[in-house]
Amino acid sequence: MNATKATLFCIILFVATFLQAQTTPGLLPLIQNPQGRHFMSLDGKWNYILDPMNNGLSANGYFKEPHVDNKTTFKEYDFSTSPTLNVPGDWNTQNATLLNYEGSMWLKKAFLFHPQSGMRYFIYFGAVNYRAIVYLNGEKIGEHIGGFTPFNVDATSQLKEGENSLIVWVNDTRQADGVPTLKYDWFNYGGITRKVRLLEEPATFIENYKIQLQKKSLHHVAGYVQLNGTTPSQAVTVSIPELKLVRTFTTDAKGYVAVNLNLPAKQLILWSPQTPKLYEVTIATKDDTVKDDIGFRSIETQGRDILLNGKPVFLKGISIHDEAAYRNGRIFSASESKILLTWAKELGCNYVRLAHYPHNEDMVRTAEKMGIMVWEEVPNYWDIEWNNPETYANSLNQVSEMISRDQNRANVIIWSMANETPQTPARNRFLSNLVDYTHTHDNTRLVSMAMLRGDKSHNLLSVNDSMANKVDVISFNEYVGWYEGDNSRIDQVSWQIDYNKPLIISEFGAGAVAGLHGSPTERWTEEYQAEFYRKTLKMIDERMPKIAGMSPWILKDFRSPLRVLPHIQDGFNRKGLISDQGQKKEAFYVLQAWYKHK
Ligand code: GCU
Repeated sequence: MNATKATLFCIILFVATFLQAQTTPGLLPLIQNPQGRHFMSLDGKWNYILDPMNNGLSANGYFKEPHVDNKTTFKEYDFSTSPTLNVPGDWNTQNATLLNYEGSMWLKKAFLFHPQSGMRYFIYFGAVNYRAIVYLNGEKIGEHIGGFTPFNVDATSQLKEGENSLIVWVNDTRQADGVPTLKYDWFNYGGITRKVRLLEEPATFIENYKIQLQKKSLHHVAGYVQLNGTTPSQAVTVSIPELKLVRTFTTDAKGYVAVNLNLPAKQLILWSPQTPKLYEVTIATKDDTVKDDIGFRSIETQGRDILLNGKPVFLKGISIHDEAAYRNGRIFSASESKILLTWAKELGCNYVRLAHYPHNEDMVRTAEKMGIMVWEEVPNYWDIEWNNPETYANSLNQVSEMISRDQNRANVIIWSMANETPQTPARNRFLSNLVDYTHTHDNTRLVSMAMLRGDKSHNLLSVNDSMANKVDVISFNEYVGWYEGDNSRIDQVSWQIDYNKPLIISEFGAGAVAGLHGSPTERWTEEYQAEFYRKTLKMIDERMPKIAGMSPWILKDFRSPLRVLPHIQDGFNRKGLISDQGQKKEAFYVLQAWYKHK
């Protein structure tokens, strides 16, 4: 890189880092584990107003709600007589007229409240896709960009006794400078897609914490507690009753304290797919107490192996989108997460790739209880604006929110920075910085990304990505037999991948319509997909270097505007091993048998 380019890059990085701090005004550090706190749910029926021309954003816009006291007052909108939607929930699948709506919508929740003096109040959104501006009682209290990670805004000064009016402007229009950008192979579900909670906290409260085993240790916890409030320096007690462990620490002038604990190795049951043991951990100050269920495990690499608790583990996985079975909309509950994860368990999985963005928190926590390891990913998908500081700041913020939310989840073993991103110097700089940030902020997990190929010859396939020296695990997507030739092509190729790091095949797959039968050479039949899996699994066994795991594409057929073949796709990607209505295809049983013997 010549001096000019290096200088330009440093400027971009400085601007991006500055922007990340400013990503969106009013954005506060994420409050950890909202479900373990005092909160009032704001889920339920919200009134909504469609606003494709952003008419409501004007100075006296829809968030102002003039007090209407007689028939003469001029008004051209009224939330109270507007239709309603369920929150959480994407708008697309709640009303047929909204299926393909992409634009702005205003949503309002009126609620009664009795604020306690001296307490602080935050509104916590599990996710809003894609941009949000939050108003409380007519005043803007925060905004956020990014459709798959949580954020909280301070409501303390605007919350009032009695009836309160919470109004959110949501816009899900795809953005060229967005993360993800304009085109991607999943459905753009808009709205307040995950739970909304009003958190009540004392003047100084436990904002965030990390209680996880130190890298390479099987008994030493190295974490931290971060307080937020007017008396930052105070005693914090961490207790794990089942391990008869109670330790008190004192936070510094910034409310921070490093937590080091030696767990009793003899009694400690490490988290694993076989024993997904979680311990009740309580973190308490004189005014605040937060409880969480936390598992302890070690994940690291050794040559081509991934070690879980010091022993090699093969990741028998499947890829999953955050889309409910049957109704095919954004998931927001543990029960719908459990349907997909139960199918993954039936398949024989001990691991899932949650593609291509952070899924709802219930999916991660439910998988943790079920003993399923997880790959989480931010949506740096295909070709985003790698030279744009605002795009970088947005992406960095999503990485930060993903880690902050799930850093205490034992089953999260891989943070993925990207999917199928073309190799350019700008992309390498962008992703290198994200990898560095992630390693710095959480060295207890592995970092990867789904890479593109770099073959050695027509029949000798390989991976050649300059990011390979940055990541801990080399992952790649391959579609020999679907996008590259037909099933007969699979028998012609072999692989040579030279990196001495664990290899994961992050995607392979073929399409099939459940119930469509024919010869194994006929595309879109279940027989073709099953033959694709038989040949690919044989290739993996016989003509590919040892891999540490895989997450075939994909568990369930899913909505995508890119898939428009009539009577075959009809707006769905059909590479699922299970149809969008829960019908298992022949290939499901091919992979299930292979996993059983793995
Ligand atoms: C790509 C991409 C997926 C996509 C899949 C497909 O590799 O990562 O998001 O759905 O292939 O083409 O079905």
